[in-house]
Amino acid sequence: MDDEGHLERFHDRPEPAVPGLAARCDRLGSSVVRDILRLTTRKDVISFCGGLPAPEVLPAVEGASLPRDAGQYGATEGETPLREWVAQHLTRLGRPCRAEQVLITSGAQQGLDLCARLLLDEGTGMVCEAPTYLAALQVFRLFGARLQPVAVTPEGIDLERLWRQLDRPETRAAYLVPTFQNPGAHCYPEANRRSAADAIDASGRVLIEDGAYAELSYEGTQATPVCGYLRRAPWLYLGSFSKILMPGLRLGYMVADERLVPHLVRLKQAADLHSSRVGQYLLLDWLERNDYDQQLRWARTVYRERRDLMAAGLDRHFGDAARWSLPGGGLFFWVALDGGLDTGVLLDAALDANVAYTPGAAFFPTEDAPVHWLRLNFSHPSPRAIETGLARLASVYESAVARSKHANSLLSD
Ligand SMILES: Cc1ncc(COP(=O)(O)O)c(C=O)c1O
Repeated sequence: MDDEGHLERFHDRPEPAVPGLAARCDRLGSSVVRDILRLTTRKDVISFCGGLPAPEVLPAVEGASLPRDAGQYGATEGETPLREWVAQHLTRLGRPCRAEQVLITSGAQQGLDLCARLLLDEGTGMVCEAPTYLAALQVFRLFGARLQPVAVTPEGIDLERLWRQLDRPETRAAYLVPTFQNPGAHCYPEANRRSAADAIDASGRVLIEDGAYAELSYEGTQATPVCGYLRRAPWLYLGSFSKILMPGLRLGYMVADERLVPHLVRLKQAADLHSSRVGQYLLLDWLERNDYDQQLRWARTVYRERRDLMAAGLDRHFGDAARWSLPGGGLFFWVALDGGLDTGVLLDAALDANVAYTPGAAFFPTEDAPVHWLRLNFSHPSPRAIETGLARLASVYESAVARSKHANSLLSD
């Protein structure tokens, strides 16, 4: 905050130059979401920013009595019973696999980092959705990827463009979030999944499938992972315990084609030896004493209710001023504002009115990103905060449109 108690403006400020750092530090933009989250810690700010679980959905962390062994160094791959649980889980989702293919990671985010280390050299082509998860873009850029965008819509991924991007000589992998994508919440329809898998098989490129939201479905959709349809191409599937259980645990998993596992184990060794054993034991203890499916049903119930509330609020406040589609799963509304406003610029006024959202441009892999999108999270704010926050946002938007109309009329006078 500044001296007058205003929230600092959100701007992507260049870091002070420090001589002698690795060149990749220049490529390492900061995460917009984490920057905005820092600005929204004040109690009176309603934040629609990050993909945080609702406080009521987080299971209580109880002082489990863990064996002394939990404090000892452990296996890089992770604890065997947890790897077995993950293998059964992904098999149930539609990609049969064995525990030996599973690596427990420090969040799905570490899975992304390991994928980048495994596959990217300077200038390697990485196919990705446009828009897509911005912290994945951050990692891929850090490792020098040449990002090759393919549009996604409620109809799925643009198959023609996917074929073309996979076919480029520099392409080595494709990063897809086919089930309740972030930010768009799109879920590729079944036929589109099969065709995407055919394209990847034909190209022989590696599929990195991110399933962070795969289970957060509100309409009963059960989508088979795209990697479940592959016959030949190497694949990696990333999962997370953050969205259904606890992001503070920092645990996720990576399931990989057998051919890739030994390489990933060495990369993880080099990165952190292994993920927290205490955390893994805590998680195993929770899984043993609780019903995961019941927790999932609870999360779905709470989030479906909030999604519907946000949909009604958007209809009421932005019915004539924006476009969006109802997310069938995931944690976000992806909203296109009419009226030619830049949502990055509008954020300053929104923060002044104590409401925050994530501007959409950061989710696009290319420089020419459209500026009229914004992402709204509905899982974390309470029902009352959703209503109040949308009303604040609508008033900020209306004032900005009125100002812009006034400026245009002065110009044309
Ligand atoms: C698409 C996607 N992948 C991965 C992650 C990282 O998840 P984790 O908390 O498991 O590191 C997120 C977090 O928001 C995400 O949205």
